[in-house]
Amino acid sequence: MIYRTFVRSFTLALMLALTVNWANAQDPKKGEALFKDNCASCHSRDMKKDMTGPALAGVEERWAKFPKKELYDWIRNSSGLLADASYKSNSYAKGLLASYNNTVMTPFPQLTDEDVSSLLVYIKNMAGSGCAEPPCAAPADAKGAAATDKKEDNNGSMVLWALAFVLVLATIFLARYINNLNRLAQHRMGQEPVEEKSFLQIVLNPTIVRILVFALVILGAHITVNNAIGLGRQQNYTPTQPIKFSHELHAGKNGIDCQYCHDGARRSKHGSIPATNTCMNCHTAVQMGPEHGTAEILKIYAASGFNPISTKTPEYGQYFKAEVSADARLEVYKKWLKEANKDNKVIGESEINAQLASAKPMIGKPVNWVKIHNLPDHVYFNHSQHVTVGKVACQDCHGKVEEMPVVKQYAPLSMGWCVNCHRQTKVKFDENGYYNAETKSHKMYEQYHNEVKSGKRNGVTVEEIGGLECQKCHY
Ligand code: HEC
Ligand code: HEC
Ligand code: HEC
Ligand code: HEC
Ligand code: HEC
Ligand code: HEC
Repeated sequence: MIYRTFVRSFTLALMLALTVNWANAQDPKKGEALFKDNCASCHSRDMKKDMTGPALAGVEERWAKFPKKELYDWIRNSSGLLADASYKSNSYAKGLLASYNNTVMTPFPQLTDEDVSSLLVYIKNMAGSGCAEPPCAAPADAKGAAATDKKEDNNGSMVLWALAFVLVLATIFLARYINNLNRLAQHRMGQEPVEEKSFLQIVLNPTIVRILVFALVILGAHITVNNAIGLGRQQNYTPTQPIKFSHELHAGKNGIDCQYCHDGARRSKHGSIPATNTCMNCHTAVQMGPEHGTAEILKIYAASGFNPISTKTPEYGQYFKAEVSADARLEVYKKWLKEANKDNKVIGESEINAQLASAKPMIGKPVNWVKIHNLPDHVYFNHSQHVTVGKVACQDCHGKVEEMPVVKQYAPLSMGWCVNCHRQTKVKFDENGYYNAETKSHKMYEQYHNEVKSGKRNGVTVEEIGGLECQKCHY
């Protein structure tokens, strides 16, 4: 029947509309948070004043003559774009750089396309909001911004919604029309015509209801999957970190023990990321890196407040006194960078300025390491149980971290992964006091101990001590 076919194509169109709309999600709220965290140190929040970087109002218009990808690349890595003449915007960017004292923008390789488009929507909203002094609230959604710029694909979602609406109307009218035709045909053939269906009857037609339920299920699934991805819980997840810290160099080449830095793993629930103080145990002395020279180590100094030329500037202290301003610290760092790099002919004034610019936002702040492993909140996982009691090696769960220049998530962190290991792994009954101590539920394990001793069983798996019980892993 025509009606069926039509309904089918309508469903497809509706689902397409939903998917495309969510795939392009731009979230000005997220844009605002990203802007505050990453950009506000150099770009004015009202988008209208020049600061270290230019006012960002109208930036998309200025970049409209270049391929859209280039603005995204610029925000993620402006030095890459400046160095590569094959970018159409290369000469524009060079001009911009020159007019901003060769200050190079911090790279943000961690920003996804969605992050950048959220940033751009936020920028546009703020620029168009008539807000003179920050903080001003951004308009609640992207619609206002979309309306001002018809070329943009922001308003793609609007168009899709309008399309979906038109399709719904068309379905209803068509369904009515077909119903009338059917009645007419039945009348012609001399049959008793079926009762004319009311508008409501058509809308509540079982097929349409079924389609709506189906669409809701798809929508639910879509949101769930999106949230899961949003948590960053992905195998091989390799975010770029604010400091190019290499495990290969530290744990591999220099053989530093994992627990020197991650001492939490042995005695607590968490693996714990070391504070900059731990880095400074060595980096007060190790001031030059084999690959990045001073660039990355400078960031540790900025974060920890270390003054690398305190012998020449004793008034500031070995760690800057709190009242020493960021600008004064940057002056000190500049002197140090020049001194430390004086034999390095490759590094000129502009590279030194670039190093200072990327360290500047980190002054006096804890390093914002991006967390790689993320279990959902409803799962309980305890490091010390595995590392100290279970004697499981870090590498069994995290892979050969000592060979990774950048850490990546090695295991899937799925329930199946935990459960499989618990089925296969034998508990180290005799290697630690945990199971022998009278204070533990000793009785429960006594039989196991005896059976192992008498050779009746060759071991006890984690499963057998209850490692598959739901409530052990779930709150
Ligand atoms: C360390 C300071 C600094 C930070 C942080 C920074 N920028 Fe910039 N930005 C600049 C400077 C300086 C320029 C001018 C070009 C140059 O000198 O490289 C610029 C230029 C730009 C431009 C091009 C402007 C135009 O008129 O064409 C855009 C877009 C931009 N920044 C976006 C961002 C975004 C988005 C963020 C945050 C994710 C950010 N910037 C963070 C300093 C910074
Ligand atoms: C010198 C200090 C240091 C040593 C030694 C070290 N780490 Fe790390 N580790 C860090 C820092 C800093 C981070 C955060 C930055 C990063 O992810 O690279 C980190 C991150 C990690 C992460 C990712 C944490 C997350 O965000 O989910 C794992 C896993 C890890 N280390 C395991 C190890 C293992 C295994 C070893 C020994 C082979 C080791 N580390 C040795 C400093 C260290
Ligand atoms: C049995 C598997 C397993 C072993 C063994 C293990 N880890 Fe982990 N590690 C995990 C899981 C799972 C997470 C994620 C925890 C979360 O999100 O709550 C994690 C997270 C981390 C983190 C991030 C911070 C945190 O606690 O969330 C670091 C750092 C880390 N591990 C280091 C280590 C080090 C160092 C060792 C060895 C001393 C080690 N891990 C041994 C499974 C393991
Ligand atoms: C136990 C000593 C020790 C600790 C602790 C330590 N480092 Fe290092 N770090 C080194 C050594 C040694 C080098 C390499 C020097 C060389 O090879 O010339 C180095 C080099 C570096 C480099 C330069 C990399 C390059 O290729 O240019 C960075 C960045 C760095 N460390 C960051 C950190 C951070 C961040 C921490 C704290 C989380 C930290 N280090 C803790 C000893 C340490
Ligand atoms: C590489 C193997 C391995 C993996 C992967 C693993 N575990 Fe374990 N787990 C063990 C071992 C071994 C023990 C036993 C420790 C002991 O002797 O108490 C254990 C014990 C436990 C216990 C205590 C069980 C009890 O009966 O007391 C919990 C809870 C637990 N694991 C949770 C998890 C969770 C959650 C995950 C996944 C995120 C996970 N484990 C992944 C090896 C593993
Ligand atoms: C050894 C640890 C462990 C045990 C035992 C365990 N779970 Fe899980 N469970 C997990 C982990 C880890 C996740 C998170 C998986 C993810 O994020 O993909 C999870 C996720 C779930 C989820 C969410 C759906 C999903 O796959 O993300 C449900 C529901 C669940 N578990 C139910 C149970 C039930 C019921 C039991 C008992 C029969 C149980 N679990 C036993 C570790 C465990």
